[in-house]
Amino acid sequence: MSAAALGARRPLAPDRPSGWWRPPFVAPPLGRGAAGSAVVLHSAPLSSEVGRVKVLLIGAGAVGQVYGYHFQRGGAEVAFYVRGRYAAATRAGFDLYPLNRKSPRAAPVRFEGFEVLTDWAAVAAGGFDIVVICVSSTALRKGGWLTELAGALGDATLVNLTPGIEDLVLITERVPFEQVVSGLIGLLSYPGPLPGETLPSPGMVYWVPPLTKMAFSGPEARTRGVVTALTRGGLRSKRVDDVQAAAAFAGPALQFLVVALELSGWRFAPLRRDKALLALASRATHEAHAVAAARFGGRRPFATRLARPWVLRWVTRLVPRVAPVDMELFFEKHFTKVGDQTEHGLRTLIRLADEYDLPRDAMTGLLARLVDHRER
Ligand SMILES: NC(=O)c1ccc[n+]([C@@H]2O[C@H](COP(=O)([O-])OP(=O)(O)OC[C@H]3O[C@@H](n4cnc5c(N)ncnc54)[C@H](OP(=O)(O)O)[C@@H]3O)[C@@H](O)[C@H]2O)c1
Repeated sequence: MSAAALGARRPLAPDRPSGWWRPPFVAPPLGRGAAGSAVVLHSAPLSSEVGRVKVLLIGAGAVGQVYGYHFQRGGAEVAFYVRGRYAAATRAGFDLYPLNRKSPRAAPVRFEGFEVLTDWAAVAAGGFDIVVICVSSTALRKGGWLTELAGALGDATLVNLTPGIEDLVLITERVPFEQVVSGLIGLLSYPGPLPGETLPSPGMVYWVPPLTKMAFSGPEARTRGVVTALTRGGLRSKRVDDVQAAAAFAGPALQFLVVALELSGWRFAPLRRDKALLALASRATHEAHAVAAARFGGRRPFATRLARPWVLRWVTRLVPRVAPVDMELFFEKHFTKVGDQTEHGLRTLIRLADEYDLPRDAMTGLLARLVDHRER
């Protein structure tokens, strides 16, 4: 789409100032009905029609379903944009298993009562207040859909949840910077059951670690609107200074630990024994932190000093103990699904290290081992 055409974007919801509303209903705590007793077995809209915020989620996968569910619980009118082949399954609604409740796997909560769109004309006509990108960094780059989305966005707040260090730049080449909110996902979500897990029916299982909040940054009013809507829907969220910088410092340790786990056959025990691999992941993390510091400036967070082999080894012991999920299986399933994103992220960091004239030998070594491992 030409710049002129982009400039001609018309506001689609002129009567509904974006970034501002007062959700009229506070949802009950997760997993409890209005009387505070029974498990919520459906998620019908909880507010009146008056003043409801309209939220569109792009992608109805693991993250899209969970964020959509909580927006709806907070009183929003929710819709999904999905590719045609997913339309029927999405219209059928979803079963979700929030693990942050009592007897989490006994019965699912039902998530339905949303619209399903499959073309951009319908998105443009929808008058959405918030549009949330719930796909991977690599999916963001496939096809011309991001430009189509920009043309259909109107004045909606665009929330981007993809983790790539350059994703915001890609988006703001098409959508005005002051319209974009960045988000950091602080939960894990997967299509259950995993092997060995018992559920009454298949569904999306998700867990928010204790004290964790979904983080957002961007223009103040728009960011606050997103945070308020999700928090009212039971998904704790907060506004932070800069999600991009936070992700660039916090992401590599997990990202490279996961690469090392993949190289260890998705098993923690062999990874713990592989001192050389842990040392490589640790050095790669420090190289990535140097890239983050060059790109975002400011002081490196204290936690970046903890990316040492013994800490990584300790994390592989701690995580399986605290998570109510088989983390080896979760990591294998999730990071196989987004394997192209992991590789893309690593290649991007190596290129940026070159551009900033920074060391990148460990990242290059890790990438070479990953590519070799995947080719075998
Ligand atoms: N799941 C988690 O626990 C978790 C935690 C933290 C961060 N994240 C991040 O969140 C992002 C999404 O992860 P996810 O687990 O939700 O992935 P997912 O389950 O694969 O969901 C993404 C969905 O979006 C669809 N999609 C891709 N391109 C699309 C497009 N142009 N238009 C409409 N739909 C499109 C995908 O379809 P196809 O499968 O056909 O491509 C898929 O159904 C990733 O960057 C991931 O790293 C996830």
